Amino acid sequence: MSQSTTAPAPPTISAEGLLLRPLTEADEPAVAEALRDADILRWAVGRAVTGAAPGERARAWLAPRLACRDSGTAAFAIADPDRDTLLGSLSVREINRLPDQAVVTYWVTPAARGRGLAAGALDAAARWAFAPAADGGLGLHRVTLDHAEPNIGSCRVATRAGFRLEGTMRDFYVDTEGIRHDSHLHARLASDGPYPRG
Ligand SMILES: CC(C)(COP(=O)(O)OP(=O)(O)OC[C@H]1O[C@@H](n2cnc3c(N)ncnc32)[C@H](O)[C@@H]1OP(=O)(O)O)[C@@H](O)C(=O)NCCC(=O)NCCS
Repeated sequence: MSQSTTAPAPPTISAEGLLLRPLTEADEPAVAEALRDADILRWAVGRAVTGAAPGERARAWLAPRLACRDSGTAAFAIADPDRDTLLGSLSVREINRLPDQAVVTYWVTPAARGRGLAAGALDAAARWAFAPAADGGLGLHRVTLDHAEPNIGSCRVATRAGFRLEGTMRDFYVDTEGIRHDSHLHARLASDGPYPRG
């Protein structure tokens, strides 16, 4: 049975080499720069954004994420811990659409890639999602993510963050050119225990 909930306000979470913090209006220029990247447009933002004029894409991406709690989404910036600049994005979506579950999505700006940011952010988000509500978490049991099969970097990120490969969803993802791709489904459970960094 499904249920809808209002997502809690995203907290600020410190992890090694990054911050997860709420997105703000001030992030729009950095989002606009990120949305010039072909891989982010192809794999991570959806047609509501890619269908907008290039100059409108950052607003089309950011506005719903600044007002998304009623749809059960907690949207974070992945930020530099010293300068607070935006290095990427991570959203915990569909919180409790299925009881005790959520879905996570992410991207990292081209300039910030190559240092494991997405895996670190995923791990931090999973720990928050699994923490009991009394400790400020979501009290979830299962968090999933999916990626198109050609997106090998995302597969590696998921595995590295303790999200095990569970199977293949045929023709699940339609990219911006209308091409259908099989997608991998990955999940991490609260009962999987701590994710070993490294
Ligand atoms: C996927 C993404 C978030 C990874 O960014 P990142 O955290 O900087 O990842 P890194 O560059 O540190 O790479 C992480 C791992 O993936 C591997 N990897 C990255 N790109 C790869 C590629 N194209 N092919 C094979 N392996 C790749 C790295 O070698 C690294 O492996 P390791 O864990 O064994 O060291 C980033 O490339 C991105 O934003 N892509 C576009 C948007 C996207 O695909 N989002 C996910 C949608 S499901």
